Parts: sequence; C-alpha cells; structure tokens
Amino acid sequence: MSPHVTAFFDEATNTITYLLREPEGRACAIVDSVLDFDYASGRTDTRSADAVIAQIEAQDLDLQWILETHVHADHLSAAPYIQERLGGKIGIGDRITVVQATFGKIFNEGTRFQRDGSQFDRLFRDGDSLQIGQMRCDVLHTPGHTPACLTYVIGDAAFVGDTLFMPDFGTARCDFPGGSAEDLYDSVQKILRLPDATRIFVCHDYMAPGREVFAWESTVGEQRARNVHIGAGRDKAEFVAMRQRRDASLAMPRLIIPSLQVNMRAGQMPEPEDNGLRYLKVPLNGL
Ligand SMILES: [Fe+2]
Repeated sequence: MSPHVTAFFDEATNTITYLLREPEGRACAIVDSVLDFDYASGRTDTRSADAVIAQIEAQDLDLQWILETHVHADHLSAAPYIQERLGGKIGIGDRITVVQATFGKIFNEGTRFQRDGSQFDRLFRDGDSLQIGQMRCDVLHTPGHTPACLTYVIGDAAFVGDTLFMPDFGTARCDFPGGSAEDLYDSVQKILRLPDATRIFVCHDYMAPGREVFAWESTVGEQRARNVHIGAGRDKAEFVAMRQRRDASLAMPRLIIPSLQVNMRAGQMPEPEDNGLRYLKVPLNGL
C-alpha cells in the first residue's frame, strides 16, 4: 500500500508539511502543519495552512487526522486552525507529558496549564495504530530529538519528523531539554529496520552544501548506505560523540520561544489577559 503524498515546503522555517491520502478514496491526514509567525510584529498568518486546506478542498478529501511528529521548536503548529476549518483529530506521542512538564516549568505556567496531554485528541504509544480511511498507520516511538518524537508509518511511507534528515545533511539535533543522542541513534536504527524501499519523508531540509534544491524524500536503503551522520554502519559511540560536538556549535532556532509555548498546548495560544490580548513570554537566560 502506497499513500499519495503531497509536500508543502515553508521557506521561512525550512519545514515540510505533508498531506497524505488514500490512493483510492477520500481519506487524508496532515503531518506537521505550520502557522506562519512574524516574530518582529508578533503577527500570525495562515497562508501556509490555507495552501494545504485549499488542496484538500479542491480534491474533496476527508481530513481525518492532523498529526504531529513532536513538539516543534522552530515553527508554530496550525493544527487547531485546520481542525476548526476541516475537522479531524489532533494526535501526538504520549510522552508529550514529559515535554509539557519540562517547558511548563521553564515558562512558569500556572496550574491552568495541564501537563497531561489533554489538549490533544489522541496520544499515541509505541506500537499503536490508527486508521486513515482504509490505510493503517503504525506509530513508532522514536525519541532523541525530543522524548516524545514519533514516526508514522503508512504502507511504504514513513514520516520521520526530526530524526533523520536527507542523507547528505544527516540527523536532527539532540540538545534541547530532554534530548538524547543515544536515544536518537537507537531510534534511527528502528527506522532503518523498515524495508529498504520505504520512502522516508523528513520534517526539515536545510539544503546541504553542494545541493541547489530543497529535498525531503529518500528511502531507507539510501539512508542506510549514505546518511552522512549515521549511514554505512556508523557505531553508536562515534555517532554520539559527533552529534554532541555538532550540537554544541548550533544556535537556538529563531522561533524556539514562541514555538514551544504554543506547540505544547497543541497549537493553542495562551489564554488572553484582562485586556483581551494573548501574550507569549520570553524567559531571560532560562533556556
Ligand atoms: Fe523539531
């Protein structure tokens, strides 16, 4: 079984949103949507999400799931906006509670911020499955970048979030609170045990040096043979040392502060204050 996959690339955050649908039939799902955000003005915009919605409407599809591979630190999720427009259930990994506990503390969220994942419609555990029409989607827990990261496997397609990137770019960083290069190595091995021809769809592309176009699709076979961080049988100790060295040199993503506060709430904004406006916080020297 081979879902039909359409990719939407957001140049502002290098994020790929996927629309996947049954080869025959109307059922579809979205993986990792984007709400546009201009940090300087504090303004949100739904251009990116509207492009996906327009496709769904043009093809008369039935949106059943709005899936998140993890709590993203580089873009805001448009899941609630899309749900309001088209319906569908919002799902993420059940270890979201760990992420909510960590960042609930950092952002000093009061008791009104629930840390039980209840903002989402469904929390998936490793080995769970869900239906998208006739298609069965298997859920793999693939932590490392964050403790709650998931990979969604539907037939010959795997949506790997921030684990593997394109073979020439390598793997995702593991230095956010709760991240672990050891866990990422093990998670990647889990993904690489899928059949060689499995299509791998990544959540970000930063156009590796020497490449002139953005790209997001490879295969398990290509990743195993050529991934610059972890391919060709690189061992765990070597990978972990490389990953930690590299992570120490990386700047924080531009939108990490707004992204975490919104995405840990399943894409909802914080409650309005008594003047009716909603605010995001900036923890000084707290991240
Ligand atoms: Fe991420």
